[in-house]
Amino acid sequence: MAGFGVGSDLILYLSPVLVLSLLVRRLVHFFNDKKLIKQHGCKPPMNIAPLWDPILGIDLVLQFIRAAREGRYIRFSGGRLISYDYATYVIKRLALPDTIYTAEPENIKHILATEFKNFGLAELRINAMFPLFGSSIFTTNGPAWAHSRALLRPSFTRSNMAPLHKMMERHFQLLLNHIPRDKSFFDLQQPFFCFTMDTATEFLMGKSTHTLDSTRHSEAERHFVQDYLNCCYEAVLKIVLGKLQIFRYSRTASKARDRAWAYVDGFAEHALASREARKVKGESAIEDEGDDSAEYNFLEEMTAQTNSRAELRSEVLGVLLASRDTTAALLSNLFYALSRRPHIYAKLRTEVLSRIKGPLPTEEELNNMTYLRWCINETLRFHPVVPGNTREALCDTTIPLGGGPDGKSPLFVKKGTPVIYNLHAIHRRPDIYGDDSHEFRPERWDGLRPGWGFIPFNGGPRICLGQQFALSEASFVIARMLQCFESIETNDSSDWLESYSLVMCSKKGVSVSLTPDKEHLGW
Ligand code: HEM
Ligand SMILES: *[C@@H]1O[C@H](CO)[C@@H](O)[C@H](O)[C@H]1NC(C)=O
Ligand SMILES: *[C@@H]1O[C@H](CO)[C@@H](O)[C@H](O)[C@H]1NC(C)=O
Ligand SMILES: *[C@@H]1O[C@H](CO)[C@@H](O)[C@H](O)[C@H]1NC(C)=O
Repeated sequence: MAGFGVGSDLILYLSPVLVLSLLVRRLVHFFNDKKLIKQHGCKPPMNIAPLWDPILGIDLVLQFIRAAREGRYIRFSGGRLISYDYATYVIKRLALPDTIYTAEPENIKHILATEFKNFGLAELRINAMFPLFGSSIFTTNGPAWAHSRALLRPSFTRSNMAPLHKMMERHFQLLLNHIPRDKSFFDLQQPFFCFTMDTATEFLMGKSTHTLDSTRHSEAERHFVQDYLNCCYEAVLKIVLGKLQIFRYSRTASKARDRAWAYVDGFAEHALASREARKVKGESAIEDEGDDSAEYNFLEEMTAQTNSRAELRSEVLGVLLASRDTTAALLSNLFYALSRRPHIYAKLRTEVLSRIKGPLPTEEELNNMTYLRWCINETLRFHPVVPGNTREALCDTTIPLGGGPDGKSPLFVKKGTPVIYNLHAIHRRPDIYGDDSHEFRPERWDGLRPGWGFIPFNGGPRICLGQQFALSEASFVIARMLQCFESIETNDSSDWLESYSLVMCSKKGVSVSLTPDKEHLGW
């Protein structure tokens, strides 16, 4: 009992000091915030969401859960913003920090660019991903993020896409094996996700996972793909659990992580060793090891910046996460839209066939196809691959819109407040896209300059590093598909339902029938 007594005495002595210092800090904060509010002319929010349960907002949480179950989370969340006439609104709950929802380009520009340093990735997202993916560009803010970005940037500044196209064509030929030759209906989404897994792993580690090629898909590769998917699943689950994630522990996931790390470490080791070997030999060219060697190897490029195995591994896993599902979802969402609009498919095919002179498209030809870029932009607008995002205030700060009776005054944002933006709403603003913004119409891109009203790759210092890579890969695959198939049809006339975890794609897949161009394919 003696120990207990000493402890309570200590608390007794210290508590007035503690209380006083807390009080002083509170006061300083209070006056600083008052100054900030006055300086920026912040006003109370124009829109505060009504709630039945003012403490936890359970009614709203249930609505979000129901929408997610039904595959319309993004449409529901975006629809709420649209119901406020695209103006910013705030959810206030007694037991939780405020949450700000916005679809205003000016606010987006503010949090992603102008006041970049005041807003970061949400702590919950970092905590959910860090244990599985390590410290990488995807799991850090501030100086650690800047370090990762500087580390990765040189590997993205290549201009010659020809070796990548050669690699993609090899995988495209394997993709073709998964397309029925008799025009029967099948799900095109699955082979797209396999395709990007195979190309991303080859691009990153120099060795593909061969998921499209059953004759070469090894046990180790099968395990790696499964382990990677388990880690992604776990990370998404933890993000969804939010603050409750601290109660979640999965042995399966940590085992999967250990195995996935070991798999990538093997390639990191190899990349470091071959760099050493090249240094000894005094040559810089990567040796050609025959058919299976990569024309390009991201890991080896990165060894020019670091020789830390942990760093190489985390960044590779981060870029795999950033590149694989995103590109597959873009391709899937584009063919989903085309399968419902045969006239757009025909128009795009006319452009592809008239522009490509040789058997395969060149980078120059791909960049020169206007209608193709319109279709890609329209897909990223209409069914954005990353349909929503959050930035958390890293200090007490402001955003320019959402306050006052008309919402045109700045809004005060307390440290830790999440600002959530929804691309479904932003990308359908009639003031930017016109009254037909709820239609899929590539022609709208003729002369359109939406600025911060179009953010499929985010913006500011943290803009997607792989944008050029993604557009190049997607353009190549789209052009090849349109060369090979005369027309597309779907047997699914139901409405769009989303599958939304890391990225957004169609919940029911992309059920299509493709008519082969016999001359081109030789089928
Ligand atoms: C259609 C395809 C893609 C879309 C729509 C897309 C979208 C995005 C978005 C929205 C972000 C910002 C995430 C955030 O900060 O919260 C991002 C970041 C990033 N993306 Fe992409 N991405 C795509 C493809 C790729 C590819 C192919 C690569 C790599 C080869 C890549 C590499 C990255 C990296 C490294 C980041 C982190 C940048 C940073 O935090 O500084 N992305 N991407
Ligand atoms: C690009 O397209 C234009 C027509 O729009 C054509 O005149 C030009 O030759 C094309 N360039 C290349 C490199 O294909
Ligand atoms: C597609 O959108 C981007 C971003 O707004 C824009 O820079 C580009 O010009 C657009 N492409 C076309 C062909 O309109
Ligand atoms: C479309 O066809 C495929 C393959 O025959 C079938 O599995 C699927 O259920 C069909 N979808 C619809 C909506 O009829």
